[in-house]
Amino acid sequence: MKKIAVLTSGGDAPGMNAAIRAVVRSGSQKGMDVYGVPLGYSGLIDGKFLPLGPRDVGGIIQKGGTFLGSARCEEFKTESGRKKALRALNSNGIEGLVVIGGNGSQTGSYLLSEMGFPVVGVASTIDNDLVGSDITIGVDTALNIALEAIDRLKVTGSSHQRAFLIEVMGRKCGYLALMAAIAGGAETVTLPEVDVEPEEIVEVLSNAYERGKSHAIVVVAEGAKYNATKLAEYFTEHHEEIGFALRVTILGHVQRGGSPSAQDRILASRLGAGAVDSLERGEYGVLVGWMNNVLTTTPLKDVVGKTKQLDMQLFELARVLD
Ligand code: F6P
Repeated sequence: MKKIAVLTSGGDAPGMNAAIRAVVRSGSQKGMDVYGVPLGYSGLIDGKFLPLGPRDVGGIIQKGGTFLGSARCEEFKTESGRKKALRALNSNGIEGLVVIGGNGSQTGSYLLSEMGFPVVGVASTIDNDLVGSDITIGVDTALNIALEAIDRLKVTGSSHQRAFLIEVMGRKCGYLALMAAIAGGAETVTLPEVDVEPEEIVEVLSNAYERGKSHAIVVVAEGAKYNATKLAEYFTEHHEEIGFALRVTILGHVQRGGSPSAQDRILASRLGAGAVDSLERGEYGVLVGWMNNVLTTTPLKDVVGKTKQLDMQLFELARVLD
C-alpha cells in the first residue's frame, strides 16, 4: 500500500492531533504517501486530500482539537454520499483510509469498508463508549478537566456551605461521570445506566449536611434520566430538606478543549501507528484499540451499534465512599 489518507470525525477529542501525527510519521517511514482529509467525511465527499509529510505534523502533539478539523456529516449517512466519497478516494488513487473518531464515525468506517474500501478505525472519543477499546483517545484529558473543576468547586462550596450539581459530558455512557465522581470524592453520581430519582439525591445531600459536611458534590451525567437543570428545578422546591444552598455547573464542551494528557498522547501515538501497521499487513475493516494493556484490532462489525458496558462495581464503590 503506497497512498493512504487520514481523517478525524465526530466530536473532537484531545489527542486526535497526536494520532494524526503518528499516522503521518509512521506511514512516511514505511514509504507511503499520506494525505489529510479536512473536516471529516465532508472533506472526503468533496475529494479534498492534502499531502502531509513528517514536518507538516510537527508541533501538534501537545495541541487539543484536530488541526484537520472535524464534522458530523449528514450526507455520509446516505448511500449516495458514501458513493461520492468512494469515487473521490478511487479517483485520487488513495488505497487505504484511517478514520479517527468515536461511535458515529466508526459506523461510517464500517459502511465504507462494506463497500470494499480498506478502512481502519482509531478509537477516539471522550465518551469512552466504544466497544473494542478499554480506553479511547481523549478520555483521560476530559476526565482530568472534570476533576479539576470538581476540586475547584469544592473550595468555593466549602466557603459557602453549598452543594454543587456538576454536569459532565458522555452522551449515553456514564463512564466520565462515574470516574469523575470517584476521583473527585463526590457525594453521589447519576448515570444513564442507572435510574436515580431526585428524592434519593435529596436524602444523600441532607445526610451530608447533617453529618456536618461543608460542601457536597453531585456529578450528573448529561445522559442521565434527570440532567442538572431538571434536578436543580426539583431541588429548588425541596431546599428546606437539603440544607445546603445549591449551585449548578454544566461543564459541556470545556471538557473537550485543552492540551492532551501524557496518557492521551501516548495512547494516540500507539493507536495511530497501529492503524498504519494494520493497513500495511492488509487487515482492514477493523478498529484499532487498547485492551488488557495491548494494542488490539476488533472487526468494525462487532463495534458498531453497541455501547460499552460500565463496570457497575465502580458504581457501588462510588456509593460506599461518599
Ligand atoms: O461524543 C462526544 C460528545 O462531546 C458527547 O459527550 C456530547 O454529548 C456530544 O459530543 C456533543 O456534541 P456536539 O459537539 O455536536 O455538541
